[in-house]
Amino acid sequence: MNHCPNLLIVDDIEANLLLLRALTHKINVNIIEALSGAEALEKARGLELALAIIDVQMPEMSGYELAVKLNEDRLDDKVPVIFLTANYFDETEVFKGYNSGAVDYIIKPVNSQILTSKISVFLDLFNQKQTIKLNAAELKKSSEELKNSLEQQHQLSKYIEQVREDERVSISRELHDDLGQALTAVKIDLGIIKQKIQDDDLVLRMNKVTALVSETIKTVQRLTSQLRPEIIDDLGLVAAIEWYTKEFAERAGIEVFLDLDFDVTILPDHSLTLFRIMQESLTNIARHSGATRVEVSLYENEESVHFRIADNGIGITGEEIKSKKSFGIMSMKERAASLGGSFEIYSENGNGTVIKLILLLNKN
Ligand SMILES: Nc1ncnc2c1ncn2[C@@H]1O[C@H](COP(=O)(O)OP(=O)(O)OP(=O)(O)O)[C@@H](O)[C@H]1O
Ligand SMILES: [Mg+2]
Repeated sequence: MNHCPNLLIVDDIEANLLLLRALTHKINVNIIEALSGAEALEKARGLELALAIIDVQMPEMSGYELAVKLNEDRLDDKVPVIFLTANYFDETEVFKGYNSGAVDYIIKPVNSQILTSKISVFLDLFNQKQTIKLNAAELKKSSEELKNSLEQQHQLSKYIEQVREDERVSISRELHDDLGQALTAVKIDLGIIKQKIQDDDLVLRMNKVTALVSETIKTVQRLTSQLRPEIIDDLGLVAAIEWYTKEFAERAGIEVFLDLDFDVTILPDHSLTLFRIMQESLTNIARHSGATRVEVSLYENEESVHFRIADNGIGITGEEIKSKKSFGIMSMKERAASLGGSFEIYSENGNGTVIKLILLLNKN
């Protein structure tokens, strides 16, 4: 802000105005002069004033009245007022002045040094106020930009998540339709061929190959369901959790205890998100925790769904949670945030790790 601050001086005697102007000529201000309250109000309208120096005794409108009027509409930008008076010792006058917005008094005849140093103080204050205003505006702008970029980031992760889900659906379909069906055809053909073989050794081999193909078909089915757990749509979230945790318990050799409320009224989108968070969390448990036992609970209260997974493993540290490389944890948080929910991960007194997900229900 380089332009000169405005200083309003008001006195009904022209010689006094001239004197004030002369006394302040060295100060870098833009002086606005007025010979009456009405003229001052007219000239000051819409202007930002650093300070007003007003004579108390003026005909028609007194200095006090002018001060009140001057600041009437300036809610955040009150103009500090120095009154010029000969009545310094009249206490009621002094209070009148303070009530109308005075911040200081100068007794006539005006002492040049006192006047200039007081003006300097107010100009300093004004400049500081301008700087604060500028900083506040910049701060507001940056905080809005930050808010926007965070919102964009959320939208982007939502979009990426959707793209990933779509990809999973198409890979799962191809696995099921192409690989799954081809393997089933191979299995049928193997059965037919086997019937025509006499050699016991070959029959034994054929049985082994058939068993291998059957296993592979199961693997394809498992991968297909993990990629796109249609069970969520077909049988609901609770059935999907039961199915997935049973498979997890068998594969990872970790006991899983379930405490699931069958009546949760969760939206399909939310169910899939919760399911994906469970997958990530159970994978972490299998990979990092060394746990032997996992508890999974799901319940609903008045306004939210609560999902909790607790293991009895080695626990997680604050550094691991906050690490910029903990993409799995970040993605769980982001998934929860994309639904307006909250996500927490912590260790309970060093006994294992807990994840807690809370999703708000929209029951309107
Ligand atoms: N249940 C848990 N028990 C103990 N440590 C855990 C547990 N879950 C996560 N951690 C720790 O937190 C770290 C970060 O987990 P996160 O899922 O973000 O990453 P990751 O599993 O190492 O890799 P990614 O998930 O990207 O494949 C892990 O490396 C591990 O040290
Ligand atoms: Mg992980």
